[in-house]
Amino acid sequence: MTRTAAAVLKPVSHDERPDIGLDDAYLATMSEKLSEILAATYRLTVKSHIYHWNVVGPLFKPLHELTEEHYNALFAATDVIAERIRALGHLAPATLADAKNFAPRGGDVSELNASDMVADLIHDHSEAVKTMRAAATIAGDAGDVVTEDMLTAHLTFHEKALWMLRAIAAT
Ligand SMILES: [Fe+2]
Repeated sequence: MTRTAAAVLKPVSHDERPDIGLDDAYLATMSEKLSEILAATYRLTVKSHIYHWNVVGPLFKPLHELTEEHYNALFAATDVIAERIRALGHLAPATLADAKNFAPRGGDVSELNASDMVADLIHDHSEAVKTMRAAATIAGDAGDVVTEDMLTAHLTFHEKALWMLRAIAAT
């Protein structure tokens, strides 16, 4: 049978469950957790970029350069996390409403000095670490070593970022 254009363009299911030895309930739960981690990673990407542009004062150069390293690494991480959600058989964030969660929260950056920015980044990286560690533990307990491994890699990045931010802020 010839496929018509309408048939080719007809939306197809994007949520078929993979047969990879992980049960449906786990796949749904972990996909939800990874969606939250993805959104938090995006928020930190955007925030790091905004601080990269607007930092002033004696910490300008180290913070300007460190935030550039961070937003590049964080942006790369968003793609890895989203593609893991797809590999688990669920949709990555797919609506504009979902994308609203990618916007960082907070006030006017003009009210922040460099130390405020560092403290805020330390807060967000610390929250990311706690959320990712909890999710990695759940993944490990379920035998989902790929997700556990991915989250471990991201934890390594965030914990190193925290060390560097703490070192910049040290007096
Ligand atoms: Fe730049």
